[in-house]
Amino acid sequence: MLQKIGIGVLVSGSGSNLQSIIDHIENGTLDAEIRVVLSNNPEAYALERCRKHRIPATVVDHRQFSSREEFDRRVIEILKTSGVDLVVMAGFMRILSPEFFRAFPRKILNIHPALLPAFPGTHVQQKAVEYGVKFSGCTVHFADEGVDTGPIIIQAVVPVREDDTADDLAARILKEEHRIYPQAIQYYAEGRIEIEGRKVRIRCDRRMEDIALHNPPLTRF
Ligand code: GRF
Repeated sequence: MLQKIGIGVLVSGSGSNLQSIIDHIENGTLDAEIRVVLSNNPEAYALERCRKHRIPATVVDHRQFSSREEFDRRVIEILKTSGVDLVVMAGFMRILSPEFFRAFPRKILNIHPALLPAFPGTHVQQKAVEYGVKFSGCTVHFADEGVDTGPIIIQAVVPVREDDTADDLAARILKEEHRIYPQAIQYYAEGRIEIEGRKVRIRCDRRMEDIALHNPPLTRF
């Protein structure tokens, strides 16, 4: 029986990624235990999800702190006292200070709704549609002191359709976010993740087959 890894989930909004993690823990496919959910936004719907599933949650409202460092210190204290081994940022809209990375070296994951390094930052589905890319997707990576720049663990690719709005694309990407995040946490829980510089190796007996994707589809070549 795999020892369940204790995770702390940082949220700011809807919490649909949190919900996917809860669902996979409850159906037994994710060997993790949510020790605490922490929101910087008292109105986050993610908190309602915690109430429904009886998951310990707390609000640390960043507006009540005079500095980012002070806010981070409070968040770190709660995570440490809750026995968190892995910090999972799930729609958390705060930039972490260096103190966070000292407290949880290579133990902070983030999910981003684009194929990094393309489209870091915010409103990335809109930027992808406006740019005219034919594929986008989502990325789970180790957070580092940059913005969306840490070593990549897993990515999913989805087509961008010519008449897509940003919302259409966001919904298509979100479905894959809800699959790759639990998978990344499970890889971590099983001790399969090795980091070598920028590169992440997953010790796994399954490999991606050599396929190419084409959007629009090829008609004869
Ligand atoms: C998701 O697209 C996530 O990638 C981004 O915030 C969006 C909302 O996430 N960071 P959630 O529904 O709050 O998990």
